[in-house]
Amino acid sequence: MSGHEKIQRHYDSLGERYDYHYDRSRGRSYHNHLSEHLIKMLPDGGLILDIGCGTGLFVEKYKAVRGGAIGIDISRGMIQQARRRSNGTDFIVGKGESLPFASTSFDAIASLLAFSYIRDPEKMLNEAHRVLKPGGTIAVCTLGKNLLTRCIPAIYHLGEIMQVRHPVVRNFGEHYFNDEEMLELFYCAGFEDVKTNWYSFAHIDMIDPFFTLARHIEPFVERHVPQLAYNICVTGKKPA
Ligand SMILES: C[S@@+](CC[C@H](N)C(=O)[O-])C[C@H]1O[C@@H](n2cnc3c(N)ncnc32)[C@H](O)[C@@H]1O
Repeated sequence: MSGHEKIQRHYDSLGERYDYHYDRSRGRSYHNHLSEHLIKMLPDGGLILDIGCGTGLFVEKYKAVRGGAIGIDISRGMIQQARRRSNGTDFIVGKGESLPFASTSFDAIASLLAFSYIRDPEKMLNEAHRVLKPGGTIAVCTLGKNLLTRCIPAIYHLGEIMQVRHPVVRNFGEHYFNDEEMLELFYCAGFEDVKTNWYSFAHIDMIDPFFTLARHIEPFVERHVPQLAYNICVTGKKPA
């Protein structure tokens, strides 16, 4: 089974369970927290494309405060759940590495918690660059590579062997990148003014009272000790 097929099959069977995980109290606070950072990185108004949109949680949030959004995801099951969530929004089944859109169609590209799954990140970034209008923005938030996250692939691998029932604990051969690797990927794809920031410290799978404590000190960690945050957020611009 190819990497894409494994991801597709897993997420196809997840739809409602994924929403349950990320749309109840802890999951919601984690997802909202990252979504808010991502929204701040995007321009006001215009049309955005969300790559790896899943069940449309981010598209829904973006549309409530900003403008138009289209979501694309490799999993039909996730797209079906997204369509149920927000009637009228365009959700399309497709790969981030091969976007079914004309060149210069979008004002911005967003991607939340999906970039690490992309099998060919260079191809996805080239496609994102192609469909962006000149001067358009790209903003990607994904699990990054640092001291804390280094053991995640091993944990996910073990979780799969032990058949842990968890929405994202599977060995998908995910790629995690550090700052330098992200800068290189984005500059090579033709983006300019590329910046990285690290966000989120409170992990929804932490047990209490650690979760509550982590949530409390999260803003401090993000500002002063970003090496302890585990999602890397990257922004860049397509030259005007
Ligand atoms: C952890 S979920 C994140 C979903 C959503 N962005 C969110 O924030 O809730 C990762 C998503 O990436 C999608 N995905 C993985 N590889 C992809 C690819 N090559 N192209 C498009 N979507 C992909 C999966 O199907 C899944 O829905």
